[in-house]
Amino acid sequence: MDILVLGSGGREHAITASLAASRLVSKLYVAPGNGGTGQIAKNISLAIEDPAAVTQKAKELEVDLLVIGPEAPLVAGVADAARAAGIAVFGPSAAAARLEGSKRFAKGFMDRHGLPTAAWGGFQDLESALGFLATHHAPIVIKADGLAAGKGVTVAESDAEAAAAVEACFGGRFGAAGSEVVIEERLTGPECSCLAFTDGRRLLPMPLAQDHKRVGEGDTGPNTGGMGVYAPVPQISAQTEAAILAIMEGAVRGLQEEGLDYRGVLYGGFILTADGPKLLEFNARFGDPETQVLLPLLQSDLAELMYLVATQDTTGLELEWSCEAALSVVLASGGYPGSYQTDKPIAGVVAAEAIPGVKVYQAGTRLGQDGGLFTAGGRVLDVTALGPDLAEAQKLAYEALSYIDFEGIYYRRDIGARALGGQSG
Ligand code: AMP
Ligand code: GLY
Repeated sequence: MDILVLGSGGREHAITASLAASRLVSKLYVAPGNGGTGQIAKNISLAIEDPAAVTQKAKELEVDLLVIGPEAPLVAGVADAARAAGIAVFGPSAAAARLEGSKRFAKGFMDRHGLPTAAWGGFQDLESALGFLATHHAPIVIKADGLAAGKGVTVAESDAEAAAAVEACFGGRFGAAGSEVVIEERLTGPECSCLAFTDGRRLLPMPLAQDHKRVGEGDTGPNTGGMGVYAPVPQISAQTEAAILAIMEGAVRGLQEEGLDYRGVLYGGFILTADGPKLLEFNARFGDPETQVLLPLLQSDLAELMYLVATQDTTGLELEWSCEAALSVVLASGGYPGSYQTDKPIAGVVAAEAIPGVKVYQAGTRLGQDGGLFTAGGRVLDVTALGPDLAEAQKLAYEALSYIDFEGIYYRRDIGARALGGQSG
């Protein structure tokens, strides 16, 4: 099978590494890719959010499967265009990707199908949003409707902060993504992610994962794309996990009822409240960095699985998962998620990967002319370790990352601490 993967993060390096390990795969292309994918596949340049350009390239390369990593191409309709041209695509249609691309659509979908979520209202102008805030007080949550790279959500602790967030959205801070606003009840509880493969008919869940979104130790400071993650999540009971899976099954039934073509990964972001798990959001793709712990635990062949999902042929398919634990620590450029420097030489990746059970996925990296590795983004590397239990995986990940260095390196030292009885994480 020849495959084209779209994207350039640690998620795409993890996807590409698993595909490269499949005996079914011959040629593997990544657009645009990064320093890590360039070592195991052919990086190509391509306007990945342009449906016509991607379709043309996939035809030219004669690939058997197109795998879409990030959300923007999905929302732009890349899956629809390629599928219409007869290409097997792992990734939902634009209409189905509205589950991620529009918070208002997602909340309406949850209500229509009885999927538990925070009480909410949707607003299309500043006056009505401020009018609502006059009778609904902080703490309250303000969300820009569209894609805002994880920055469109404000959990407001005061009425003034809530009003300012609404004004920022309608004032254009998030461009068109902020022209509608969702205001919702603030929920409290630990969070976890449930990712599942689905061909729109069956749900094939992965182990639960827990991301660490805040930049600082003890879950402090601004939100990021994710600073570290582990899976499975041992502190979540079998009963809670069953409730989460029932909600995910309900989502797949809802997609069917609404005639939405969904083939790919459905990602439910959950908060575990005193009233049971509730949905915070859907994503229409693999998580980053969740993928960097989930795919190393997958023992089934990823290329075959993705092809069966893309061609809606998963009847009878059962996934095999390792019974180990996986933990990944993100190594970031100092200053991220604010401004940071790039082009710093990276040392020690080979030494870290020499440790059995350790994989280093590359996110913001590029290969220099001489084959050396340089930083090229905010999140630079994901150091993943597998161990018989989470404590062992954590120990191994931190041991491995101690070999790695680049100027301004920053990482959280408490990934996994909550599960292991520490104070945060
Ligand atoms: P989202 O992109 O909708 O997942 O929101 C990003 C983060 O904001 C979540 O991971 C939560 O930490 C927080 N958040 C979102 N919605 C709520 C809510 N209704 N109550 C409390 N926290 C929330
Ligand atoms: N790690 C969160 C996300 O991928 O959306």
